[in-house]
Amino acid sequence: MASASRPQFSGRLGFVMAAAGSAVGLGNIWGFPTQTAGNGGGAFVVVYCVLVFLLAYPALMAELIIGRYRRANIVTALGGMGSHALVRRFGKGVGLYGVLTASLILAFYSLVGGWMLAHTLQPAFALIRADSGATWLTTQTPWRDIIFSGLFAGLTAAIVSAGVKQGIERWARRLMPLLITLMLLLALYVWSLEGAETGLKMLLLPDPSGLTNPSLLISAMGQAFFSLSLGVGTMLIYGSYLSPDDSLPATGAIVAGVDTGIALLAGLLIIPAIFAAQHLGIVIYGEDGTLHSGPKLIFNTLPALFSSIGNTGLALAAIFFALLSIAALTSSISMLEVPVAYLEESLSLSRKRAVAIAGSVIFSASILIALYFDQLFGFVVTFTTQYNQAILGIVLCLFSGWLLHREHLLKVLGKKEYRLFNTIWPVYVRFVCPLLIALIFVHSLRG
Ligand code: TRP
Repeated sequence: MASASRPQFSGRLGFVMAAAGSAVGLGNIWGFPTQTAGNGGGAFVVVYCVLVFLLAYPALMAELIIGRYRRANIVTALGGMGSHALVRRFGKGVGLYGVLTASLILAFYSLVGGWMLAHTLQPAFALIRADSGATWLTTQTPWRDIIFSGLFAGLTAAIVSAGVKQGIERWARRLMPLLITLMLLLALYVWSLEGAETGLKMLLLPDPSGLTNPSLLISAMGQAFFSLSLGVGTMLIYGSYLSPDDSLPATGAIVAGVDTGIALLAGLLIIPAIFAAQHLGIVIYGEDGTLHSGPKLIFNTLPALFSSIGNTGLALAAIFFALLSIAALTSSISMLEVPVAYLEESLSLSRKRAVAIAGSVIFSASILIALYFDQLFGFVVTFTTQYNQAILGIVLCLFSGWLLHREHLLKVLGKKEYRLFNTIWPVYVRFVCPLLIALIFVHSLRG
């Protein structure tokens, strides 16, 4: 186990900012609204909230509890649980698979983070009528992607190499309030536009017939696991930096609550914006009659809305993409912390060196993905977020449920007594939670 000089967040607020910073990312501001738009609106929101409560929160607790109990990175943590050598070896293997997955997620996430940075700069170029520059920034080419994902990865590496308190926590404390302020400002503006109320209705009045659609369950579970940064050891390592006195069940619930709240706010911002765009004559439905979602929504529909509002629109576009860049950055630092903590703790490397090694390997993977985008991007996303996050989530539930003794659990949870949590959660993560995740996962393979 790690030494007594391990870094720590300064307290509960610092942890909540950092963990919410990890959770709130492109998954909330891009993924959630576009999934909602693509899956019929309010029905998706309802299923999503139910799954956060039933599956994602318990899995989040599994990671936080293992991290706090073992006070180490995912490889060392899982490799030291259980009394049988085979179990320990299996744990170590699972930990390494988690590190690999976190690194691959960061490789594609940096690319997308780079798109956001490029789109944040575009309005400035458009303002001074540097049209070819503006077009270059918003056209997907390998060079633009490599340059901007390098910039994004560089920012991520700079923050992580400054350390847990001085880097991760400090920047989460600065960026999270800024993020929420920008979002509220944009939302207030969008709600004042004509046509917005159609989008609000679509979100707030779910169509009950949508609730029985099984593909909704699969999308919602994937979205919830991605949004809460589960399965790959992010929350585990953050949990290991939480001071021993802070109570876990409540802190975990706050993180899940903030993450879901911000996803809902993003939905309430973007879906009404789609219908405001329609009001201005912008096409929002594809030929098959479904709403434009995914990249089309973020990079075509919304920019078309902004550019029809003149110079105010340019400012709005800059704010919108700055918002996405900030959200992406507080998430990417949490992904990089996974391999960095492992290299630091297992191989006794300095933090700076660990960041340099992990950062350059991951950036090389980003370059490969940029060069072979059509072949690699979708594959890496599916492999890491649909398959690995679910499988790793199941194993983490099983490890925390079966290999952690009751007296340890009580100690790990914090000072307060959590009678309800203590009775339900251990049984729940042993049987119910892994089974439910497995059921939905297998279903997704067949579909
Ligand atoms: N949760 C973040 C988002 O919504 C992304 C993220 C950060 C993540 N760390 C992760 C996703 C670990 C999966 C695993 O954008």
